[in-house]
Amino acid sequence: MTALTDSFGRVHTYLRISVTDKCNLRCAYCMPAEGIVWRQKEELLTFEEIERVASIMVKFGVNKIRLTGGEPMVRRNIENLAKNLSRLDGLKTLAMTTNATMLAETAQTLKESGINALNISLDTLKRERFLKITRRDQFDTVWAGLQAALTTGFDELKLNSVVIAGFNDDELLEFSDLAFNNKLNVRFIEFMPFKDNEWNVEKVVTYKDMIKEIEKRYTLTPIKSDRSAVAKDFSLHDRDGNLGKGSVAFITSMSDSFCATCNRLRLTADGQIKSCLFYPAEINLRDRMRDGASDADIEAMIRHALQLKPEAHPPAEELAKSDNRTMIEIGG
Ligand code: GTP
Ligand code: 5AD
Ligand code: SF4
Repeated sequence: MTALTDSFGRVHTYLRISVTDKCNLRCAYCMPAEGIVWRQKEELLTFEEIERVASIMVKFGVNKIRLTGGEPMVRRNIENLAKNLSRLDGLKTLAMTTNATMLAETAQTLKESGINALNISLDTLKRERFLKITRRDQFDTVWAGLQAALTTGFDELKLNSVVIAGFNDDELLEFSDLAFNNKLNVRFIEFMPFKDNEWNVEKVVTYKDMIKEIEKRYTLTPIKSDRSAVAKDFSLHDRDGNLGKGSVAFITSMSDSFCATCNRLRLTADGQIKSCLFYPAEINLRDRMRDGASDADIEAMIRHALQLKPEAHPPAEELAKSDNRTMIEIGG
């Protein structure tokens, strides 16, 4: 087995699969206000095609797969895909990142289908703000989804909160309380630029500033994490010295990027390999598969994509102008 290594020696063991570009929310930082043109069903990989690519990658060392979107649960029968992927020999983690709007009804089914790690996106704990950022009045539904996930009991449960200056940076302490009181890893994410997502540098809150704010209530102690983890993890102690049930983390893409230890590859919903979150060039596996490519051809295309993977992403201001896909089409 030859590992999936790029030209900088980084070994790729983590595949993020976007299963749809559709979403039932309209987050301003993720997609343009006027919407995007959804891809047609025929443009999307079928479950069989996804499973084929995934099984080739797992054969060459991928041990973690994450299902993303858009919103992955918008794709019908997603649990069938999860079941089949979870059976791949060598896969250790099958994860999903979801907006939790459908989780109240499906958390148990997802777990039974083999999803053992779940990340929930939630940027505010205030109903009116939720409506403002997502353009949908679904805070209560998402909250019910989070509660369902907490009671279902996944091996790993995380909450992702994109911190935007002047919008939700006054909620860091409330989110930290949530982490203190629940078995939950709350991750504060520095706001990143993508096509048409209203990003500007003044809206970025650096993790160092976030830490200063949280330390008004809690003492943070670093927890050692995996070499290729995107987040810096911390345990929480309150002023009486009590240890929190959960933890907080910071995803520092803007102020302290982690490209040097990147282990991630992406498969887009329309079947392109995307070697880097910020690198527009894509390798079209879908059309080659539909033209009869062999597994060896697919492997060669994956390795070619890895050869093109950049060493690191360009600085933020340049990223904001680059011709990348919108976030909703990438899935994070
Ligand atoms: P874990 O596997 O639980 O660590 O999750 P994850 O961080 O890999 O995935 P998730 O979908 O929860 O994404 C959380 C945030 O990390 C999002 O803002 C992603 O855009 C960001 N992220 C994920 N992968 C990368 C990456 O390769 N580069 C950068 N810069 N950000 C990333
Ligand atoms: N910057 C940082 N994170 C983002 N996400 C979506 N858009 C952005 C952005 N511009 C997050 C979502 C989700 C994850 C897949 O990516 O909140 O949790
Ligand atoms: Fe990896 Fe690209 Fe993200 Fe850097 S920006 S961590 S290279 S995907």
